[in-house]
Amino acid sequence: MAATATARACANIAFIKYWGNLSCELRLPYNDSISMNLDGATSTTTVAWRDDLPTDVVVVDGVELDRSGTQRASEHLDRVRALAGLDARAEVRSVNTFPMGTGIASSASGFAALTVAATAAAGLSLSERELSSLARMGSGSAARSVPSGFVQWLAAPSHDDSFAYSIADPGHWDLRDVVAVVSRQHKVVGSSGGHAAADTSPYLGARLGELRTRLPAVRAALLDRDFAAFGPLLEEEALSLHAAALTSRPPILYWAPGTVALMRQAAEWRASGLPVYFTLDAGPNVHLVVEGIHATSLERELERLSCVEAALHCRPGGPAAVVPEALGGAG
Ligand code: DP6
Repeated sequence: MAATATARACANIAFIKYWGNLSCELRLPYNDSISMNLDGATSTTTVAWRDDLPTDVVVVDGVELDRSGTQRASEHLDRVRALAGLDARAEVRSVNTFPMGTGIASSASGFAALTVAATAAAGLSLSERELSSLARMGSGSAARSVPSGFVQWLAAPSHDDSFAYSIADPGHWDLRDVVAVVSRQHKVVGSSGGHAAADTSPYLGARLGELRTRLPAVRAALLDRDFAAFGPLLEEEALSLHAAALTSRPPILYWAPGTVALMRQAAEWRASGLPVYFTLDAGPNVHLVVEGIHATSLERELERLSCVEAALHCRPGGPAAVVPEALGGAG
């Protein structure tokens, strides 16, 4: 058995969002979601199964995780231990190419890379579908970071049937996600807390109803590379998620002043001929989506705005996969 393996996975940005769970324990979402892997935002994770460790040790970007972070990773490692019939503890070292807490889903790339590395190191050989379902248990959006490129995650009432699959390769469409960082403050309510609160929003049912038409429309626009149809749906969808968050009890407001400034700015850019649309996750930073030919103009515009602290440019990314190199210290 290979006791050590390293895997790399991309973060992803959802065009149709995951918000609310049928089962929070199993992370079974109410609705299908659609996303793009982000090649500029990856986690590379080495897992070494070791008989000499008393507990799992998880180090991210050189810093050992605190108790609750380690516990969430350990619970995921328990799932792999159960599948492989293993008793050993794990030494986990992970490095991100993007700053944590910037509204880029580090849990997606982190749990996808952890799933692929931990199962490979345990000698398991799982299908992409099985890896996606397993990654979902660690963090829902991690299910979408397992397959390549543009991805759909299926909502289903059972563990085995809720997995993500690729609907188009990364080369299908030269879309860019330029993430404008407007705040590095820690979010008040993490995504898991947001999902748990979603049921308290009287708007959630209306949102799920809208998705019956919005989801197929986003999927079709994506497959047709029809940016004029795609862009407005992105903004509608992001605002719908935030409407659910804002109307949950207690309400959750993820926006900072810079978030609102950029949402307005996107409309102004469009009026002046730059086709750009925003989407938002459960945080203040703004994902600006453009076709490749407009990326440089957008970046030039962002440099002029004082509310933007940094911008991270991402292209469509590939699947989570085992990679040859090991991260120092593990193994
Ligand atoms: C707003 O996957 O981070 O980014 O399953 O609790 O880890 P957990 O939640 P997470 O939720 C992501 C929510 C979102 C929308 C999305 O990515 O679909």
